Amino acid sequence: MAPNAIAPTGRARTFGESEIIVSKTDLRGRIRYANDVFLRLSDYAEAEVLGRPHSIIRHPDMPRAVFKLLWERLKAGSEIFAYVKNMARNGDHYWVLAHVTPTRGPTGEIVGYHSNRRAPRADALAQIEPLYARLRARETGARNAKDGLAASDRLLREVVAETGLTYERFIFTV
Ligand SMILES: Cc1cc2nc3c(=O)[nH]c(=O)nc-3n(C[C@H](O)[C@H](O)[C@H](O)COP(=O)(O)O)c2cc1C
Repeated sequence: MAPNAIAPTGRARTFGESEIIVSKTDLRGRIRYANDVFLRLSDYAEAEVLGRPHSIIRHPDMPRAVFKLLWERLKAGSEIFAYVKNMARNGDHYWVLAHVTPTRGPTGEIVGYHSNRRAPRADALAQIEPLYARLRARETGARNAKDGLAASDRLLREVVAETGLTYERFIFTV
């Protein structure tokens, strides 16, 4: 099923404070492992997600600029923390605070990626949702996808720069 064939319902799913949603991917972001919490929240069977691109749970409200930053960091060998709105198979959504890291092989080369996600605080979401809506508006309001991504990427960097913090510190101030 193509992810863009699913219409968002606007209904939120929540998960427990002590639960962690885990997935692992190959170098191209295809899912190689998903834990039970992942499968429960997204409402897919394991066999339906293994080998599929991680964008299978992408929510249309998510700014492309956030995924651009995520991939830049990961490919550079760095970890990244990011708030992500994900979409379950029926279009419901669930917000996470993800910690994504490269996985290294015996000689230090990156062999895949790993994401652990916790439930975000409601007050953090109250700041992130309007920011993401602004980023998304830049993306959808542009002449084409390339210009939209460039404008959204610029806005994200400006918002972070205005705080005088690095992205990593910024994420933990919201
Ligand atoms: C380890 C790992 C975990 C990821 N987790 C998610 C996720 O939970 N939700 C999501 O939409 N994208 C996630 N991504 C990013 C996707 O690979 C993809 O870049 C994103 O969904 C945008 O897809 P698109 O550019 O095809 O629209 C993850 C990537 C990696 C490497």
